[in-house]
Amino acid sequence: MIPGFVDSHNHLVFAGDRSAEFAARVAGEPYSAGGIATTVAATREASEEELEANLVRLLGEAERSGTTTFEIKTGYGLTLDDELRALRIINRHTEESTLMAAHVVPPEYLDNPDGYVDLVIEEIIPAAAGQAKWIDVFCEEGAFTVEQAERIITAGKGHGLRPRLHANQLTAGGALQLAARTGCVSADHATFASDEDLAALAAAGTVVTLLPGVEFSTRQPYPDARRYFAAGATVAIASDCNPGSCFTNSIPFCIAVAVRDMRFTVDQAVWAATAGGARALDRADIGRLTVGARADFSILDAPSYRHLAYRPGVQLIAKVYRAGEQIA
Ligand code: NIG
Ligand code: FE
Repeated sequence: MIPGFVDSHNHLVFAGDRSAEFAARVAGEPYSAGGIATTVAATREASEEELEANLVRLLGEAERSGTTTFEIKTGYGLTLDDELRALRIINRHTEESTLMAAHVVPPEYLDNPDGYVDLVIEEIIPAAAGQAKWIDVFCEEGAFTVEQAERIITAGKGHGLRPRLHANQLTAGGALQLAARTGCVSADHATFASDEDLAALAAAGTVVTLLPGVEFSTRQPYPDARRYFAAGATVAIASDCNPGSCFTNSIPFCIAVAVRDMRFTVDQAVWAATAGGARALDRADIGRLTVGARADFSILDAPSYRHLAYRPGVQLIAKVYRAGEQIA
């Protein structure tokens, strides 16, 4: 028996897929934030029912692979109405809802990115207050600058949203320092992290959430988790399931990649995907098997949790329970 996986990073409200982009990438094209616009267009076209049906299908997949808690972000709508629609859908399926209206600058604002930042701050965040638990920003070349991200995080906090950040996914910019400075509960991706970045995150108590499926899918370099642990950071693993940079929601797969390619020990990886995910969501009631915790757990068809990494790609999750009820 293991605790239910806590998948603290997902983008599951979208339509369409980007398998053609994936095929081009494995043939040599680099990943860039530019592909997000393809999904934004498809998502805006889709009905609320279509978006929710796609979400429910993905949640079922994840539950069958042992996930009992999901964080889910908006970010493929990028208008006031489309972002609120995504939040409505998310709130029907999880309490870990994140407003990520600052995913990329939408096509209609490409010549006026600060105009979009103003829209997010003046209209979308106030309308999402009380509807979302978290605020997240993609702080990266091709998305939002450190200055823009800081304005958005500050505005979100002012409306009662708690901060988390997409930081240093594609470049070694100042996003991890921003996450530490603004008190983000989690800084996610952290593919490129200097010793100073890791020290700042550890000192701030910001969880570092590594996303093994992203480096697998984008062919970016895998970060070496031994550096993150040595710096004293709390490390989580999440899937980042989304149609662009990583279309898996299998935490056992992520654990296997983390162990093989990011140099986690098996114990560190299983902890990071359970208790670590709970820390990344600031939750004390999930992610561990202890008196007083919610009864979220999986029964393995294996003699040890070590088999999760030892037998990659094999379905070892036999039964899954949330709050004591069997869900898969
Ligand atoms: O976490 N980095 C930004 N957002 C997603 C990718 C979204 C997409 O490519 O559609 C991520 O990797
Ligand atoms: Fe993401």
